[in-house]
Amino acid sequence: MRPHRVFLTILALLVTASVGLAAGRDALSHSWTDAAQEGQVVLVTGSTSGLGREVALRMAARGAHVLVHGRNVERGAEVVSEIEAAGTGSAKFYRADFASFDQVRALALQILEEYDRLDVLVNNAGFGSAPDERLLSEDGHEFRFQVNYLAPFLLTNMLMPLLEQSTPSRIVNVSSLAQAPIDWDDVMIEQNFSGRRAYAQSKLAQVMHTFDLHEDLMGTGIMVNSLHPATYMPTGMVQRLGVEPRATIAEGADAVMQLIVSDEIEGGQFFNQMNPARANDQAYDLEARARLRKLSQDLTGSGRANSRGGP
Ligand SMILES: NC(=O)c1ccc[n+]([C@@H]2O[C@H](COP(=O)([O-])OP(=O)(O)OC[C@H]3O[C@@H](n4cnc5c(N)ncnc54)[C@H](OP(=O)(O)O)[C@@H]3O)[C@@H](O)[C@H]2O)c1
Repeated sequence: MRPHRVFLTILALLVTASVGLAAGRDALSHSWTDAAQEGQVVLVTGSTSGLGREVALRMAARGAHVLVHGRNVERGAEVVSEIEAAGTGSAKFYRADFASFDQVRALALQILEEYDRLDVLVNNAGFGSAPDERLLSEDGHEFRFQVNYLAPFLLTNMLMPLLEQSTPSRIVNVSSLAQAPIDWDDVMIEQNFSGRRAYAQSKLAQVMHTFDLHEDLMGTGIMVNSLHPATYMPTGMVQRLGVEPRATIAEGADAVMQLIVSDEIEGGQFFNQMNPARANDQAYDLEARARLRKLSQDLTGSGRANSRGGP
């Protein structure tokens, strides 16, 4: 190639790249319906840091009003300020510790009182494998099982009337490829405990709930999906684990965004990043799912009979 051709080719590539960057932080926004989030109300749990924070910023950039949630008031205020400074969308911070069912209930009641719509619920808040220590929630349950699974189960059930009156609406459950089957004789992992097992059990429970809920919600206009966002993003929980990050937060956020805004996907699935994937076998065991549903209803005092008429 002649020198001036090389120059023109490089120039064209640079122009293409800069147009792409100018399109905003959401690199995938052009493949899906744009600006559909204008005026939508979106709750992203655990959006004071890491993946949830990035998803909150992206949804606000698309015009949504974002309910930023977490425990850390300062970091919550920072995310709200960042959204307000960007000048698109809006945000409000809500504090609730998921290790307390009372705080989850108070959060849900406040949202039900303050809003007459909820278009998207992203159940993202989570506590990782580290420390490798058996902890208990305020309600006396194994900590990861409550924070990562039972609390969002309760929150989702309580917010369902709002999601129902905002259809088409979506629920995205941020799970993981780390999945361990529930031992029904020892759900709270009193024997052979490890932080990794507790985390992985809670993450599979989220997927089981997703599949179960999907059957219930068919025909309602509420789509529910779950996903593994990316492997070892540089977030708080990965830093606490002390492993070398392997993916970027942007990659994980792309995967969550697809489940929020894409018109090309169907509900009731588990995605490994951008693609449908198979979860742990227990997620396809109807008896196990019914058992988990009953247990979760009993422990949280919430939920309704499923479409199959069972508990
Ligand atoms: N990082 C990864 O590579 C990876 C891989 C697969 C799946 N995931 C999933 O991605 C999701 C987001 O995690 P992350 O990686 O972004 O981690 P992170 O930076 O540690 O963020 C966790 C978020 O959850 C909130 N949270 C933690 N404990 C809570 C509690 N007891 N009550 C209420 N909120 C609580 C935190 O809020 P405060 O700090 O304000 O309490 C924070 O906003 C999690 O569900 C995780 O399982 C992450």
